[in-house]
Amino acid sequence: MLHQKEIRFARNYRQQPPLVPHSIDQYQIDLRANRCPSCHDWTVADVHRAPTPSMTHYLDREGNQMDTIAGTRWCCKQCHVPEADTPELVDNTFKPSN
Ligand code: HEC
Ligand code: HEC
Repeated sequence: MLHQKEIRFARNYRQQPPLVPHSIDQYQIDLRANRCPSCHDWTVADVHRAPTPSMTHYLDREGNQMDTIAGTRWCCKQCHVPEADTPELVDNTFKPSN
């Protein structure tokens, strides 16, 4: 298993979804179950001292504001990956623009 670092990693590019600074091994996501909002949803985030997802996470495809996380943002791990200092899977020369 890859161990989490104690420090926060800098983003690799400006628009990068924030990396997850904690373990997510036990947090399975499927159609019904999703542990992430149980700490991060704006209604409970204070209790868990977790940052609230920005309001973009509560917009549906038509841009309507919703009370719960949008379906398009349900699979958190699609965008937010845990921090890990690993070798590149494929050699590349990526440099972020300024
Ligand atoms: C048990 C509560 C809990 C659960 C469940 C949880 N988180 Fe977190 N999460 C936190 C806390 C607390 C922090 C803040 C940690 C810190 O600041 O060091 C955090 C931080 C984050 C951050 C960093 C945000 C930023 O602005 O840098 C991301 C991204 C994140 N979590 C994503 C997830 C995802 C994705 C899941 C589900 C796979 C998840 N979390 C499940 C409590 C939780
Ligand atoms: C389609 C990609 C995508 C998905 C899916 C997604 N996020 Fe995000 N998330 C982002 C991006 C990009 C940002 C940074 C820009 C922003 O805040 O909109 C972000 C920001 C965040 C932040 C930090 C907000 C802040 O102000 O520091 C948290 C916490 C977070 N997301 C949690 C979640 C959780 C929990 C889920 C699943 C319920 C999730 N995200 C699903 C892309 C995504």
